[in-house]
Amino acid sequence: MAIPDDVLLEIKYKNDIESIISPYVTLKRAGRNLKGLCPFHNEKTPSFTVYPENGSFYCFGCGAGGDIFTFTRLIENLDYIEAVRLLAERSGVNIPEGDYDNSIFNLKKKIYEINKEAARFYHAYLMSENGKWALDYLLGRGLTIQTIKHFGLGAAPSGWTTLTDYLTKKGYSVFELEQANISSKSSKTGKYFDRFRGRVMFPVIDIRGNVIAFSGRANPAEKDAAKYINSADTPVYKKSRNLFGINFAKNNCAERIILVEGNMDVISLHQAGFDNTVAPLGTAFTEEQAKLLSRYTKEIVVTLDSDTAGQKAVMRALETMKNSGMPIRVLVLPECKDPDEYIKKNGAARFKMLLDGAVSEIEYRLLRAADDIDLNEDNAKIKYLKKAAEILANTDSITSDFYASKLSEKYGVSKSTIVSEISRLRTKNFKTEQKKEIKQVINPKISQKEVNPERRLNVKAAAAEENLISVLMQHPDLYNEIDKLIKPEDMVTTLNREVFAAISELIKNNNMVDISLLGERFTPEQIGYIVSLQNSVNAGINAKKVINDCIAVILKERMLISGTKDENLSIEEWHTKIQNIINSKMGE
Ligand code: UTP
Ligand code: MN
Repeated sequence: MAIPDDVLLEIKYKNDIESIISPYVTLKRAGRNLKGLCPFHNEKTPSFTVYPENGSFYCFGCGAGGDIFTFTRLIENLDYIEAVRLLAERSGVNIPEGDYDNSIFNLKKKIYEINKEAARFYHAYLMSENGKWALDYLLGRGLTIQTIKHFGLGAAPSGWTTLTDYLTKKGYSVFELEQANISSKSSKTGKYFDRFRGRVMFPVIDIRGNVIAFSGRANPAEKDAAKYINSADTPVYKKSRNLFGINFAKNNCAERIILVEGNMDVISLHQAGFDNTVAPLGTAFTEEQAKLLSRYTKEIVVTLDSDTAGQKAVMRALETMKNSGMPIRVLVLPECKDPDEYIKKNGAARFKMLLDGAVSEIEYRLLRAADDIDLNEDNAKIKYLKKAAEILANTDSITSDFYASKLSEKYGVSKSTIVSEISRLRTKNFKTEQKKEIKQVINPKISQKEVNPERRLNVKAAAAEENLISVLMQHPDLYNEIDKLIKPEDMVTTLNREVFAAISELIKNNNMVDISLLGERFTPEQIGYIVSLQNSVNAGINAKKVINDCIAVILKERMLISGTKDENLSIEEWHTKIQNIINSKMGE
């Protein structure tokens, strides 16, 4: 059952697109439209366009597009019904009771409930006599009871099925528990058992306050156990998209966010007053996480563990964030394993000083470049300067000039020599970049091709279909004329056939085209495609002529495919023949 059109339209009118998108994207006016940096792919020049007139958006860079529903789906990773519900709630619109396709929605709701129950269970267990070993461990690591409660920390009993039994008694099915990654199925016995056993438990909480996953640290008495076990991805959790601590950090990170490596670092920094700290969970820092952070903060300070692995991870994180356009600084901890240890040894005030003095990304890269080089040797100095020049070639000229002066003083090489080496490398980089750009331009609509895979097989027909649909969306008043000449089944490519049928229905039923009534029928990618057709510029065209030409092409291609083509006719004769068919139909 579909959500009634008038309900969808009410939600749409109460949530104007600008107010839905602007918390995520800084929008600037550009004529009638608004422009900004696309939140769905990395870019430096804005190709993300918002069309307030028809409540749509489209990115010319990656092909993402749609309305408030599509935007919410994509940015919050929701399915259609969930996005509609979220926006309805936001604007106080009531969705009438009904049997909508709720299966995924219901499963997700169940998983959120299960996770919450599990978190409560783990917490109660931690606070009970049986959980004493875990509580002692956490207190021994310097956490206060208040912090333990604030983060909802817990402990998992060591029995095989304690939690599984507890939750099935509460009415959850083993299937649901397995989907939540709370229970696993034994491949030998087919029985379900607890995924986390005898571990200190850290619930992962999302921006909206839902418990979405768990991280379990081994009981320190068990020397052989894996140090951490983390929830696998579930319908409510994608580890590459979430960060531990973001639920608290999001409220206090407008200026900067601190990125650390582990759960314990997050918690001890929060306890010391740095509640703008987050950590990834069992993965390297991802581009999606960088995007997430860029929504909340102006600057990221990375402070990972000071061992080699940690410093390699810093370099990887810098690479990952390169395209996010966000300023990054790095805090190198002197003689300490990780921030947790540093705070414990030196206190919060010292950490704050370190934080304020965190080095810029460039300084950090210059520092690292000296790692395996003995700077007392002349040859080594030259090698280092070459590496440094390569790093500076990737910065703007003010930055590179500044550091060129410093390097020249320090190593006794004339500044002009360093500057000319930098500019030589810059030109070289620019040429490589240019080659890459050319490749991208040759392939401008990659995503569109993927949306309509049949386009490649019949480019002529597909292009005509696209034009026809585009004109129809902009001139719904011409529907009757078009309908006389061509039916959806005449379309050559399947997707356009479906789009044409859907648009035709909208016009027949509502006398207008509103893509917000198509959200259930098409995927977000397809909606993006439809929006690109809706907003393609057709100013000043003779709509009727375009319609005629397009229909002629489509019908001809159709007949060619279906084998009804008369081989003896020339292209011109074909045109005449089809034009005659069209004219005779027009006369009906
Ligand atoms: P650490 O080993 O530094 O852990 O790994 P930690 O959180 O600082 O723990 P303590 O201080 O020794 O108690 C950093 C992060 O890497 C992930 C965890 O998310 C951890 O917080 N990790 C580590 C795993 O996912 N699995 C592992 O086996 C180890
Ligand atoms: Mn650590």
